Amino acid sequence: MRIDIITIFPELFKNIFNYSIIKRAQEKKIVNINIHNLRDYSINKQKSVDDYQFGGGSGMVMNIQPIYDCIKKLENERTYDEIIYLTPDGEQLKQSHCNKLSLDKNLILLCGHYKGIDHRIRENIITKEISIGDYVITGGEMAAWILSDSIIRLIPGVISDETSALSDSFQDNMLAPPIYTRPSKYNEWEVPKILLSGDPIKIEKWREEQAIKRTTKLRPDLLK
Ligand code: ADE
Repeated sequence: MRIDIITIFPELFKNIFNYSIIKRAQEKKIVNINIHNLRDYSINKQKSVDDYQFGGGSGMVMNIQPIYDCIKKLENERTYDEIIYLTPDGEQLKQSHCNKLSLDKNLILLCGHYKGIDHRIRENIITKEISIGDYVITGGEMAAWILSDSIIRLIPGVISDETSALSDSFQDNMLAPPIYTRPSKYNEWEVPKILLSGDPIKIEKWREEQAIKRTTKLRPDLLK
């Protein structure tokens, strides 16, 4: 998979993908992440990428031209499955989106700033709008990081134990069961005995029951 991220703060992405599973996914050449500085595409002398909004009102709006030129340049080089704009008024990101996007080959992620981007880009170029939750952050960069991470870890071959990503919370609209490691007793806190029984069938059944119990208690909305 190739991911192209368009941002006015490329420095923010210098290190965030250089750790753990995401770093290994790049080393294994399963994913190729490219960061594009939107200012490089501005054709005016000041390299500006935003302007006042028509009709008045506070906050700047990102111009069409640099975004359009950057995306068109990328599209001339390859075909993209989705051109995603990260925005608080997009569809709220769910595991089901991540699963689906992890099957794609080429993705563009556009990070917004200020008030947002000129709506004509949204109407004519963007194919998907994603929000990471009902709150507003300073720009789309953190959202692009979260989205990229949640997709990359699902690509086959990225996580060595292939079943691991499948047992994550939300994979069956279900929270994950509790997990434990050594020691089996710490102070007075003991690990549930069943996990030490060595009986895989009973353990699996217990995990399922626990997942249902936790989901019912903490996220009943997922069971609907
Ligand atoms: N940009 C600002 N807030 C955002 C959010 N909640 N999700 C995605 N992009 C954003």
